[in-house]
Amino acid sequence: ILFCTVFPMCVLAQAPSLLAPTPPMGWNSWNTFQTHIDEKLIEQTADAMISNGMRDAGYVYVNLDDGWSAKERDAGGNLVGDPVRFPHGIKALGDYLHAHAFKFGIYSCAGTQTCAGYPGARDHEAQDAQTYASWGVDYLKYDWCHSQGLNAPNAYKKMSTALRATGRPIVFSICEWGTSKPWLWANGVGQLWRTTGDINATYDTINQWSQGWKLRLDQNIGLEKYAGAGHWNDPDMLEVGNGSLTLAESRSHFSFWCLLAAPLIAGNDVRNMKPEIRNILVNPDLIAIDQDSLGKEGFRVVADSKHEIWARQLSGGDWAVCLFNPGRTTVAFHFKWKDLLFLKETKYAVRDIWNQRNIDNTSENFVGEITSHNVALLRLHPSVGI
Ligand code: GLA
Repeated sequence: ILFCTVFPMCVLAQAPSLLAPTPPMGWNSWNTFQTHIDEKLIEQTADAMISNGMRDAGYVYVNLDDGWSAKERDAGGNLVGDPVRFPHGIKALGDYLHAHAFKFGIYSCAGTQTCAGYPGARDHEAQDAQTYASWGVDYLKYDWCHSQGLNAPNAYKKMSTALRATGRPIVFSICEWGTSKPWLWANGVGQLWRTTGDINATYDTINQWSQGWKLRLDQNIGLEKYAGAGHWNDPDMLEVGNGSLTLAESRSHFSFWCLLAAPLIAGNDVRNMKPEIRNILVNPDLIAIDQDSLGKEGFRVVADSKHEIWARQLSGGDWAVCLFNPGRTTVAFHFKWKDLLFLKETKYAVRDIWNQRNIDNTSENFVGEITSHNVALLRLHPSVGI
């Protein structure tokens, strides 16, 4: 730190993994607003995130998605913000966010155009990276539309190199939808990579481009070994509080994203959310699981059509265990803790996170009921003395 204070350029030498030692947390405009965004919406969102406690709970990135730019570059080939929707310019928006202790995220695309038809970065990578740095951008989500003829690892490495050359630490969010298995090549290129196509605000509906969170969750099974401190699988942004999700489904969705060490990028209208949705997003025990310093992603232990058990190893010898009912009716869960073979200690204290109560310890069997699409999220702590 002393070295960096004396020699500010030493930021260039920082390993990219230091940019996101735990999964990034913030908000993104896409899931609710698509391209209907403007500076007033973003500023109101930031203001709401202060008053509702989200910023102080850790949601520090405020990220513009597709639709922020003018339809054309300027005469010098530079990106510019849409002059009608962002009349004060993109830098002014970044300044507003920084003045309120947020970080500023933006969106672009490796292809010639973004998915919504705005200018893409292809053949402008270095120029655009410099523009972002000059605007104070802290996070870039980089999409994959109109990328015909490009090789994904090369295209993402090109922008990664361009970002690093600016000297500004910018988190690089690879949004290639999992097509070329970025978990195999993206560690060191970016700090997070999408593992799938888009999520939608349902439990398990399949649309042309998007699928419900449960399907996206299952598509991440087996990828847990590729994530770790500074490099994260990204099962897409949160739909908590959106669309047709029931409260149980929002709660389960959030529980699983925390269990997966997923980036927690809220995608709802946080200016107008119900208190019970806010309470999901800012739950400190859930966020502590997501942000656990061990950086180990969770995994599915067992599953049938009515019962699933997932687990995540945490620091301090703790475990998070998530019991999930994927069926349509309430089911009983009844099992012996000692059958969960990953548990190495003989006894753990068990806390029910959503209900904020200690239930028993692992020398007892677990017996409980879980309603449709709901979870019991349990935190186990080694306990020799009980
Ligand atoms: C792709 C991405 C989405 C969103 C849209 C914007 O579909 O996967 O997350 O950024 O583009 O057009």
